[in-house]
Amino acid sequence: MKKTALITGVTGQDGSYLTELLIKKGYAVHGLVRKSSNFNTKRIDHIIENKKYTDSFFFHYGDLTDPSSLNRLLDKVKPKEIYNLGAQSHVKVSFQIPDYTAQVDALGTLRMLDAIRDTEIDTKFYQASTSELFGKTSDSPQNENTPFYPRSPYGVAKLYAYWIVVNYREAYDIFACNGILFNHESPRRGRTFVTRKITQAACKISEGMQDVLYLGNLDAKRDWGYAPEYCLGMWKMLQKSNPKDYVLATGKTFSVRQFVEIAFKVLNIKIKWKGSNINEEGYNSKTNKVLVKIDKDYYRPTEVNILKGDFSKAEKELDWRPKTDLEQLIKLMVESDMEKLRTEAVYRQKK
Ligand code: NAP
Ligand code: GDD
Repeated sequence: MKKTALITGVTGQDGSYLTELLIKKGYAVHGLVRKSSNFNTKRIDHIIENKKYTDSFFFHYGDLTDPSSLNRLLDKVKPKEIYNLGAQSHVKVSFQIPDYTAQVDALGTLRMLDAIRDTEIDTKFYQASTSELFGKTSDSPQNENTPFYPRSPYGVAKLYAYWIVVNYREAYDIFACNGILFNHESPRRGRTFVTRKITQAACKISEGMQDVLYLGNLDAKRDWGYAPEYCLGMWKMLQKSNPKDYVLATGKTFSVRQFVEIAFKVLNIKIKWKGSNINEEGYNSKTNKVLVKIDKDYYRPTEVNILKGDFSKAEKELDWRPKTDLEQLIKLMVESDMEKLRTEAVYRQKK
């Protein structure tokens, strides 16, 4: 019999990679899909539509804001592992919809844990915690002992989620782990996150399909890794005999400005900068054409200036380490976006 796993957020970036990983490992994967007025399964359609996986992948409508759907699903599926990846995951958007963000990211986690308690199923629980918890920290690099100081409604909601995981672990002896994951990206990254926004715009600009890329804070620094490697780390956490919390990161930090430079470099465009703050501009050093401008609407009311993680606990106890460096990651994102643009162009021509 196949081991069963349940993934919330299965239609997201991480959910899709984790599904592939677990199916490869022989699991039957059940995904919680929230109802949307349009198709939201694009990242997992290649699994849903593949006949080879009819006994490996099952999806169920449900929502982290709807406790009865969660209880019913756990009772029906009785998964041996649960990965709680579902979230309103956009930091800037969380300032616009703070109540909903708390309902999904904070209380949604409580609802999942409480459903485990109510149904008394024997399971292991992974919580998608985040480096956003560290927020306004002056400690660097950040590890499992670094104090938290979240800087957004998203970060604060995830802080509640982090602690309710710890509390249910201690109070009810539930096997529950927090993966404190630093930013991880891929060609499947949502287009409103800065990395994908940059790689997609750089491709369009180099093909003459876009004039300018508008960004917010270029000075923010992030520790960016490759998403599939982080999904392997999630799985490794649940294979241990004791539940613990782990940081997954690369240990390196780069600014948004550096990310822009590398993305354009992959396309043989050298970016130079002039001006400062909201008047800063990035231009093509050969043609002098301005390609990057600042739009202050992309700034956040409170920002996390710099993140850099220390993954030594995961390395020691899980034998986990990142493999893809930032240049490789950007290259594979740019190449994938370019491929998509070309496929779309051919499709448009055929129509
Ligand atoms: P993502 O691409 O934004 O995916 C989020 C998933 O959550 C989507 O499947 C989304 O469904 C689902 N979702 C949203 N609201 C929901 C609701 N009310 N009920 C059920 N599902 C809901 O995020 P990701 O990058 O894969 O990240 C996965 C998790 O890790 C998130 O919890 C995120 O906060 C956390 N995290 C991410 C990173 C990172 O750098 N990627 C780092 C640390 C932590 P739709 O497809 O319908 O929108
Ligand atoms: N999204 C976005 N758009 N961010 C911009 C832009 C822009 O136009 N311009 C500059 N930035 C800056 C943001 O201010 C932030 O400092 C940085 O780029 C990264 O922003 P995002 O890519 O939106 O990611 P994030 O770091 O806020 O959050 C992501 O990583 C967290 C882990 O640290 C998300 O995946 C979260 O869900 C995750 O928890």
